[in-house]
Amino acid sequence: MEKLDLRLAAAAEFVREGTVAADIGTDHGYLICYLINEGICSRGFATDINIKPLESAKALIAEMELEDDIETVLTDGLEGLPGEEIDEVLICGMGGETICGILEKTKWVKSERVHLVLQPMSRADMLRRWLCDNGWYIDEEKAVEVEKHLYTVMSVSYSGVKETPDDFYCLTGELAGMNDNYAIKYLRWQANIQRGIASGLLRSANQKENALKHIQLADMIDEQADETENDR
Ligand SMILES: C[S@@+](CC[C@H](N)C(=O)[O-])C[C@H]1O[C@@H](n2cnc3c(N)ncnc32)[C@H](O)[C@@H]1O
Repeated sequence: MEKLDLRLAAAAEFVREGTVAADIGTDHGYLICYLINEGICSRGFATDINIKPLESAKALIAEMELEDDIETVLTDGLEGLPGEEIDEVLICGMGGETICGILEKTKWVKSERVHLVLQPMSRADMLRRWLCDNGWYIDEEKAVEVEKHLYTVMSVSYSGVKETPDDFYCLTGELAGMNDNYAIKYLRWQANIQRGIASGLLRSANQKENALKHIQLADMIDEQADETENDR
């Protein structure tokens, strides 16, 4: 098996040892095969909503002779999976909204026993907000850069306590204050997005106040990145 790319390698690092994992939207099956092959997970489920990616996961599982340890399931999200057997839910490579939709539909996933590893391709801000609004908290994040794109990977647990995060937290999550080059790069990128939104809004006559809100956020994020760099 080829080495995992940095995105999936970061996800694998958050998976607890000796657990049973469900890799949702497995596609080629790289992540779940790696976790079983390395002995990080004792058993796993590889699911996909589409038959073609699931067939490619099946082919890799067969090639690596892991058929006894990984069950493949054609399903939407977590539907029909035996929740009582699963400790780790991995949802990587999907949009933030799709990830929320998958988690929202399943009751058993809202449990302190179940740990999530989430890697949104887009809308990480809305995913952070939704998680906090729904009783989850982010214990840790890691920023990675793959082919000039920055991504965050999140380690998420459930407490049942609903929090209302502010915009700064939604945009930066647990990466704020992290002494790590990619975390700082992620913050600078978020600040630039806010400045881009503000300059778009400033073209409309009645959006000045709204634009200022985005500029303030960008300043706060840049200040946090400056502070982390200065503390080195
Ligand atoms: C871009 S691939 C990501 C593959 C792998 N998880 C990764 O991160 O490299 C997204 C996969 O998720 C699957 N998918 C999309 N929506 C899904 C859903 N609701 N339930 C299960 N799989 C889904 C797609 O068919 C596709 O194979």
